[in-house]
Amino acid sequence: MNLPAEEANRRYFRDAYRTGKHGWAVEDPSPYAEKFLNRLKRIVPNGRLLDIGCGEGRHAIVASRLGFKVTAADYEPSALRRARRFTWKNGVRGIAFRVMNVLCLPAPGAAFDIVLDYGCLHHQKKSDWAAYKSSILRVLAPGGFYILSVFSPKFPLFRGRQRNWHIAQGAYRRFFTRRDIRALFSRDFEVLEIIEENGGRHGFWHVLFRRRKR
Ligand SMILES: C[S@@+](CC[C@H](N)C(=O)[O-])C[C@H]1O[C@@H](n2cnc3c(N)ncnc32)[C@H](O)[C@@H]1O
Repeated sequence: MNLPAEEANRRYFRDAYRTGKHGWAVEDPSPYAEKFLNRLKRIVPNGRLLDIGCGEGRHAIVASRLGFKVTAADYEPSALRRARRFTWKNGVRGIAFRVMNVLCLPAPGAAFDIVLDYGCLHHQKKSDWAAYKSSILRVLAPGGFYILSVFSPKFPLFRGRQRNWHIAQGAYRRFFTRRDIRALFSRDFEVLEIIEENGGRHGFWHVLFRRRKR
């Protein structure tokens, strides 16, 4: 059965959180996210941070422990249930959990100093990127920071493929080249740091951006 990408993704994530079986880490945060958050802690201590597509909350927990005021959002309620349990188990309190779709974030303008997206954008179709970006730009304060992690062409799933997208286990996934990242974000964001991680099962770009003030 061929479902539209949006519906296929919904099913995939619902199943991922129902079974707890999926391909990304549940508890261990990415060391790159930790590195960027530690850097931002010195620049915007206690800043308001939105973790969009937070999943089970591994990065929201790190951010909260570093003193940020964290809102953890995902469009899949079962992800948030897991994230609540996980943060509770870790003794972390004070994270606000919200059901939100990144394509139309229901938050006031400039509500956040930092937006963090670990693994959400690369599940959005290209036709949704404009909505994604305007959503982020609306909720992120001018001069605010944006942390992004997306698949690179070196992610094993994409090796040797001609296309830059792939449906795996029913979910839409797309890899980004450095040029894609520049084309999508350079008008509104300055790249402060970009790291290409590859090796083993990995193939990601980790990017720390700052929103231009104009
Ligand atoms: C690969 S998982 C990563 C989860 C988490 N950020 C992490 O690093 O563990 C992608 C997450 O994005 C969420 N997601 C996908 N599309 C979304 C959308 N349009 N709005 C909000 N969340 C979305 C999924 O439900 C899933 O939890």
